Amino acid sequence: MHILLTGGTGYIGSHTAVELIAAGHRLTLLDDFSNSKPAVLDRLKTITGEEIDFFEIDVTDEQALHALMERRSFDAVIHLAAPKAVEESVRRPLHYYHNGVGGTVALCRAMDEHGIRNLVYSSSATVYGIPERLPVTETSPLSVINPYGRTKLISEDILQDLSRSDERWHIISLRYFNPVGAHPSGLIGEDPQGTPRNLMPYIAQVAVGRREVLEVFGDDYPTRDGTPIRDYLHVVDLARGHVAAMEHLPAAAGYDVFNLGTGSGVTVLELVDAFRRASGRGIPHRIGERRAGDATELWADCTKAERVLGWKATRTIDEMCSDTWRWQEMNPNGFPI
Ligand code: WQD
Repeated sequence: MHILLTGGTGYIGSHTAVELIAAGHRLTLLDDFSNSKPAVLDRLKTITGEEIDFFEIDVTDEQALHALMERRSFDAVIHLAAPKAVEESVRRPLHYYHNGVGGTVALCRAMDEHGIRNLVYSSSATVYGIPERLPVTETSPLSVINPYGRTKLISEDILQDLSRSDERWHIISLRYFNPVGAHPSGLIGEDPQGTPRNLMPYIAQVAVGRREVLEVFGDDYPTRDGTPIRDYLHVVDLARGHVAAMEHLPAAAGYDVFNLGTGSGVTVLELVDAFRRASGRGIPHRIGERRAGDATELWADCTKAERVLGWKATRTIDEMCSDTWRWQEMNPNGFPI
């Protein structure tokens, strides 16, 4: 199939591009480089051995999307392009609604115009808010607690309405838990702009000497070591989940949703220890205050993805840490400008 991958030079996008090409699909990437760098394209060419068909497009620019779809005939779209920082979404809600929701609407309008109605959408476990019961299944209550999460939930609702309005649409939303890790080559990985907000990239930057110390946001939670539990998922497993979802689309119901995680939880301090083992580096850390909005525990029931998509995460926490460390050690300052 010929796939359009929006956000294709981002962290999830670049890893998904590698797996789509490895699975034999033709690929066109689009990105606006708002949260990634052009150097990713060179790294993708090195990993895949293929020239990457790329267009620098803002996904809210409907005219540019139409022009692209005039020039390329796509069988499906995997839509990853959207801003993803929780804290930023609280400060800049309009930016998040314009890009996160407006971008999804603009993309679907252009797709519909060109008869492209197979879509995999990048959603997030953040739509579950602070869950009452664990593990979280796709039918668990949804309760978004920040604008970023609301952009994901609103977009899911839009896509469900769209599929109900026209049975020619086949749409799958993927609710990611905590993507971490890097391609085993060390050539691509997570390269946050500015201070990392997420745990794994912050740990990696402490290990490589870019940051002095990790602040652990609270150790007084009701967990085995007092720190919160998350379902960390290797980004290569996540990328392969997109391939499985995309290949399932033609047989899929109009709209469906899947959790992508490992089904097991790890605490903050356990991840720090695993990274220490993988890197051989000390990870200086201090205990700070809790971060507002953090759930005590969040981990997935992924049996639906296994049953319907034939997908299951296989990579361990140790592999997530050793692959992250290889990327970070090879690229102490991330991708070159
Ligand atoms: C994990 C744990 C922190 C940083 C977020 C988004 C979610 C998804 C993944 C996009 C928490 C603790 C963190 C630090 C710390 N993103 N922590 N010190 O919050 O589970 O999920 O990223 O889809 O939508 O909400 O991930 O990595 O930020 O935090 O102690 O410097 O690490 O308190 O317990 P989170 P995270």
